[in-house]
Amino acid sequence: MKLWGGRFAKKTDYLVEDFHSSISFDQRLYRQDIQGSIAHARMLGKQGIITIEEADQLARALESIQQDIEAGLVTFEVDAEDIHMNIEKILTERVGEAGKKLHTARSRNDQVALDIRLYLKEEIKEVARLLVALQKVMLDLADQHLTTVMPGYTHLQKAQPITFAHHLMAYFQMFTRDIERLQDCFKRVDVMPLGSGALAGTTFPIDRNYVREQLGFAGITMNSLDGVSDRDFAVEFCGAASLIMMHLSRFSEEIVLWSSNEFRFITLDDGFSTGSSIMPQKKNPDVAELVRGKTGRVYGDLMGLLTVLKGLPLAYNKDMQEDKEALFDAVDTVKKCLLVFAPMIKTMKVNKQVMRSGVTGGFINATDAADYLAAKNVPFREAHEIVGKMVLCCEQKGKSLEELTFEEMKEFSPVFEEDIYEKISPEKCVEARNVPGGPAPQAVSAAINLGREALAKI
Ligand code: ARG
Repeated sequence: MKLWGGRFAKKTDYLVEDFHSSISFDQRLYRQDIQGSIAHARMLGKQGIITIEEADQLARALESIQQDIEAGLVTFEVDAEDIHMNIEKILTERVGEAGKKLHTARSRNDQVALDIRLYLKEEIKEVARLLVALQKVMLDLADQHLTTVMPGYTHLQKAQPITFAHHLMAYFQMFTRDIERLQDCFKRVDVMPLGSGALAGTTFPIDRNYVREQLGFAGITMNSLDGVSDRDFAVEFCGAASLIMMHLSRFSEEIVLWSSNEFRFITLDDGFSTGSSIMPQKKNPDVAELVRGKTGRVYGDLMGLLTVLKGLPLAYNKDMQEDKEALFDAVDTVKKCLLVFAPMIKTMKVNKQVMRSGVTGGFINATDAADYLAAKNVPFREAHEIVGKMVLCCEQKGKSLEELTFEEMKEFSPVFEEDIYEKISPEKCVEARNVPGGPAPQAVSAAINLGREALAKI
């Protein structure tokens, strides 16, 4: 017998039964559903809508159902459609009449909105925790590489020397913003929708704030139609998750590049690489590639959710049942990626010597040579032109800038003095960039300290 079977003269077709049931995926909300139902039952009791004894009986039975689910003693039924009606059905089997009263002044529409919000609040905290764990690994690594000079790139062409610590701290900043986005999204998830009913509230004298307090929400939704029909908070989470994945994906791309034989900047630990079934020599950066690949899934979840919502008239529509798989997938994917990323970074070997040799080619110190002239009052545009000509000449001679003799240098500009050689050494180029946010060891060290302070506050 269906919980809504009263007005039906015929059984649901078995094809529909299977088609519209969400129990296969929404059973993961059992804990939140029970938590919400207990709060609702207690509120009904307090308000005299049911008796205190009935409320106690309901709360106890709901707790025992949770224990049984966790002990693997409960089999959910497709016929009972979703997690909400499965639990209500078991409840009624256990406590009879009182069980049938639980749904007073409530609809599955506000119930499901509540469950998703409870679930997402927990998961946002978990994703933020995983981000912080990754950031801690990055800070430790950056600390060890304050003076590890490496080439910085634009257009994937050597540009200016930086340090590995500085490069890592760029991602650190991105992840900091990702955490801020999660914290901001949390504020809009942290609103309690129960009491919205199906769409138009309820005639019963409920106490929404009492439910809010029991469940630990910051506020309550202020319009019953809105409370059951929007999922913008879930879209926002998927947006925040997409940005986390985008950052992880760019980082992954660099790990793939750096671990290639062409770069050899890093060597991934054997535990975080995989082999080939045919090529015996292979050690592949599969973890980083998969993270890069899974980014597409999360973008898909975001786009799917937006598309489900875009044409829906108010208030609840069954289309909205499609919200859960997208949201769950985004949560699961971003968590899995963060979990594996931190130890992959922690265990990789940084090949300092290779990074250092990367800064000797590609005229990476050309800007510094131009800056040298500009500091001696040559207008920067002219200095740029002079060094450009030097690069051209060096290319023809097969030399780097620092390999030009002092006499050769003087031909390009009389302003050059012997100290030019020191000024364009990669270490000096980095040290000289001591602006806030710059790559100089002192500046990066300050950024690391600020980062540590910020993490301690989360
Ligand atoms: N399983 C449904 C969902 O996930 C619960 C709400 C159903 N409400 C309804 N009126 N059919 O959206």
